[in-house]
Amino acid sequence: MSQQTLIAPSILAADFADLAANIAEVPGADWLHIDVMDNHFVPNLSFGLPVAEAVRRRTETFTDVHLMIENPERWAPEYAAFGNVTFHLEAVADVDAAVALAATLRAAGTRAGISVKPGTPVEPLLDHLADFDLVLVMSVEPGFGGQSFMPEVLGKVRALRTRIDADGLNTLIEIDGGIGVETAAESAAAGVDVYVAGSSVFGKDDPQAQVDAIRAAAAGAVA
Ligand code: DX5
Ligand code: ZN
Repeated sequence: MSQQTLIAPSILAADFADLAANIAEVPGADWLHIDVMDNHFVPNLSFGLPVAEAVRRRTETFTDVHLMIENPERWAPEYAAFGNVTFHLEAVADVDAAVALAATLRAAGTRAGISVKPGTPVEPLLDHLADFDLVLVMSVEPGFGGQSFMPEVLGKVRALRTRIDADGLNTLIEIDGGIGVETAAESAAAGVDVYVAGSSVFGKDDPQAQVDAIRAAAAGAVA
């Protein structure tokens, strides 16, 4: 599958007291990104399954759950009704454990994603990309919205793109953290398919216009 251009607004940057209204402001979003934080894997707490479920019931958009939690083996399968469930490689014992959890998620009826923090290499995943529907490359340290994009992670994106294309895989590459019009274009040139954007979408006067601008910038920069 050739490189995609999918924009995923992150509700972490939305008004938690007005989530349904905020979601309705981005009707043209390709995906909706849902950040679950447990205050253990990352030093912040967002929300868990009940809030995520409430969001899912209010949207027809494909739901993309990003679990920044310890012990994903215990919790990730509970999100099987969502479109995609991504957990962190750093939260499981090793790549074999990640492959096993991905298989569990797929068997439960959802897509399975694996995420890496900025300092975690992707080489150990390269021989296992067919076992994941998505690789999420964090372009900030996970835990908080509104941080600056780290361009040094684009080397990992290029390595993933090269291998995915060489092997003819459908695995998507997602980037998360500090994404706006300019950084989406840089990311597109490196090979990203899915662009998570929080503070550059919600909180702006016209969130849908921001989504469209990010999509146009990314599509224009695909190699
Ligand atoms: C951060 C989250 C992101 C966050 C991105 O740990 O995973 O999804 O919402 O926020 P921005 O786009 O503001 O960097
Ligand atoms: Zn996220």
